[in-house]
Parts: sequence; C-alpha cells; structure tokens
Amino acid sequence: MLTVPKIMTERTVLTLLQHYEYQVLTDYYQNNRSHLSPWEPEKKQGYFDESQVRARLQASNDLFVAGGAVNFVARGNIDRDGEISADLNGQVLGVCNFTNIIQGPFQACYLGYSIDKTIQGQGVMREILLAGLGYVFSEFNLNRVMANYIPDNERSGRLLASLGFEKEGLAKSYLKIDGRWQDHILTSKLNTELT
Ligand SMILES: CC(C)(COP(=O)(O)OP(=O)(O)OC[C@H]1O[C@@H](n2cnc3c(N)ncnc32)[C@H](O)[C@@H]1OP(=O)(O)O)[C@@H](O)C(=O)NCCC(=O)NCCS
Repeated sequence: MLTVPKIMTERTVLTLLQHYEYQVLTDYYQNNRSHLSPWEPEKKQGYFDESQVRARLQASNDLFVAGGAVNFVARGNIDRDGEISADLNGQVLGVCNFTNIIQGPFQACYLGYSIDKTIQGQGVMREILLAGLGYVFSEFNLNRVMANYIPDNERSGRLLASLGFEKEGLAKSYLKIDGRWQDHILTSKLNTELT
C-alpha cells in the first residue's frame, strides 16, 4: 500500500485529505466560487453537503490506494502581511489533481489544478505543481502527464508552458465547463528520464 504523501514545498505542504477533514475543502471551494466557476464544471445542488464532500474524499482516497489518482491539496497559512507558510493543519491553499492514472504501455494521467484567489500570481501554484509532478512521475513511473485548458485561460497556459508542458492540439467541444461545451488546448509534459 502507498504511504499518504506529505511533501514540503517552500511555502506549502502537499497531502491528501481524509473524509473527516471535509470542512477545509468545502471552505476552499466556497471562498473561491466566483474565481473558479468560469473554469470548472457546474456544481449540482447539494455538491457541498457534508455527506457528499465526505463521500468524494473517501472515493478519492480509495482511488489513491488503487493507484488510480492522487488528489493533492496544498495546505498552509496566510498571515496578515500575506506571508504564506506550510502547515499540515492549515487552510487549503490550492489543489492539484492527478487523475485517470493508467499503466501498461500508456503510463499517463491527467492534471487539473487551482489556487486560492488571494494568492494568485505569486508562483505558489507553480511550486505546488512542480512538487506534485515530481511525485507522480517517480512514484507511478509515468511517461506523460496531460493538462488541457480553455484558450481564454491564458494564465493557465502560461503556467503550463513555464513547467515544460507542450501544446499538442486543439480539441473541439472537449469538456462541459461552466455549463457549456468548450474547446480546449491539449498539452502534455513528458518524463525525459523514463526508458
Ligand atoms: C490558473 C491558475 C492556477 C494560475 O495561477 P497563478 O497564481 O497565475 O500561477 P503561479 O502561482 O505559478 O503564478 C505565476 C505568476 O506569478 C508570477 N510570480 C510572482 N512571483 C513568483 C515567484 N516567486 N515564482 C514564480 N512566479 C512568480 C509569475 O511571473 C506569473 O505571472 P504571469 O502569469 O503574469 O506570467 C489560477 O489562475 C487559478 O486558480 N485559476 C482558476 C482555476 C483554473 O483556471 N485552473 C486551471 C484550469 S486549466
């Protein structure tokens, strides 16, 4: 069985939430509702009910144990001066989800992410993704991580490019985001060390 990761970065710690820690995740999504809604699927009624959040966290941990996904949260505190520091019991600063991990000849997965609106533009998301990518590439021996974004999401595109993701194409009506089917730019990062 895989050990639950606790990865320190300069300003955060990456880990997985247990179902009883549902409140910090709910707080993250509710505080960031308008920031995230243009870039995420619409949430159904009851999505933030305790029972539903707990069930999703449990399912996500089961998938982790099965080697199918790693849904990281980055935790820490933001002080009055805006200084960010890692704290395993702190608020959720951002999320970084490696999903649909497939082995065999594919050895690949998808990546999705977001950062709290109050700490955008400080390189914290990049810091989190660098640590998460290092972990999944080595622990799951992956060849490829795929990340796709809506062309208008230039911020996300810049971030991926800075991490070495390369554009591979444009998929029409790829995902239903914010209530409508939207085209996505397909990108991926390869593991250059894999033989
Ligand atoms: C997309 C998203 C994660 C990008 O977050 P971000 O805060 O811009 O990313 P970073 O933390 O890496 O910050 C990068 C920016 O900070 C700047 N920066 C400031 N200090 C920095 C530092 N110490 N290190 C690195 N970059 C720094 C960089 O120059 C860069 O600026 P730029 O975007 O003008 O080029 C964020 O906008 C978000 O959560 N959006 C909503 C959800 C979403 O779109 N998710 C992705 C769907 S595909």
